[in-house]
Amino acid sequence: MFANSQEASQKVAERMIQAHDQENARVFGLATGSTPIELYQLLSQSAVDFSDSIAINLDEYYGLDQNHPQSYHTYMQNHLFRHKPFAHSYIPNGHNLDVDQEIQAYDQILKNHPIDLQLLGLGKNGHIGFNEPGSDFTSHTQLVNLTESTIQANQRFFNHNETVPTQAYSMGIASILAAKEIILLAFGEHKAQAVQAMVEGPVTPDLPASVLQTHPKVSLYLDEAAAHLLKQS
Ligand code: GLP
Repeated sequence: MFANSQEASQKVAERMIQAHDQENARVFGLATGSTPIELYQLLSQSAVDFSDSIAINLDEYYGLDQNHPQSYHTYMQNHLFRHKPFAHSYIPNGHNLDVDQEIQAYDQILKNHPIDLQLLGLGKNGHIGFNEPGSDFTSHTQLVNLTESTIQANQRFFNHNETVPTQAYSMGIASILAAKEIILLAFGEHKAQAVQAMVEGPVTPDLPASVLQTHPKVSLYLDEAAAHLLKQS
């Protein structure tokens, strides 16, 4: 647990740079949302060179053009890739309406490039990537129907006259668990309940992040507000 999100983001940046520079990690699973923004800023300002590495993002809104201001493609360009280019960066193509084809293509990318280090944020309802409550733990890349609470949480990023996407392509739970190492970041009081259930609750599809209890190498980087309901330190 860290005093604030800045300290936690600093430690995650250090861990990623160490994994890259000293442990030869070359495939990074990346997340979006407001949580990793400070981390991406720190990486952008650092000396790390990802031009020999591959980035594979967790998810993308279905139906959005890559150039849409709220696409995760645009987010990644703005927050990281234009400052720190990778050799290749993969994000599901939200504009590909051929669902089977997109799913197969993304699963193939994941098969070709096993992830060394996977970053995760945490949805208020315990989702990881866009794997909403009820997601099958054996799932690979899939088209997900977003829950009402997730659609509402994402509303703030869209103009009021715009339709918020209701579906997304997401790496599945099994794809996430295949990573050699997982780092989850969660900041703020509004994440405290999900954090507590993830760590101290049962492993259940009702709270998808609880599945991380079954992975051998997971680190949680929490600020005080997100960690305050935990019994153990
Ligand atoms: C979206 C993303 C998740 C992210 C979550 C939390 O649903 N698909 O990957 O973890 O939002 O977002 P935030 O970091 O803004 O709280």
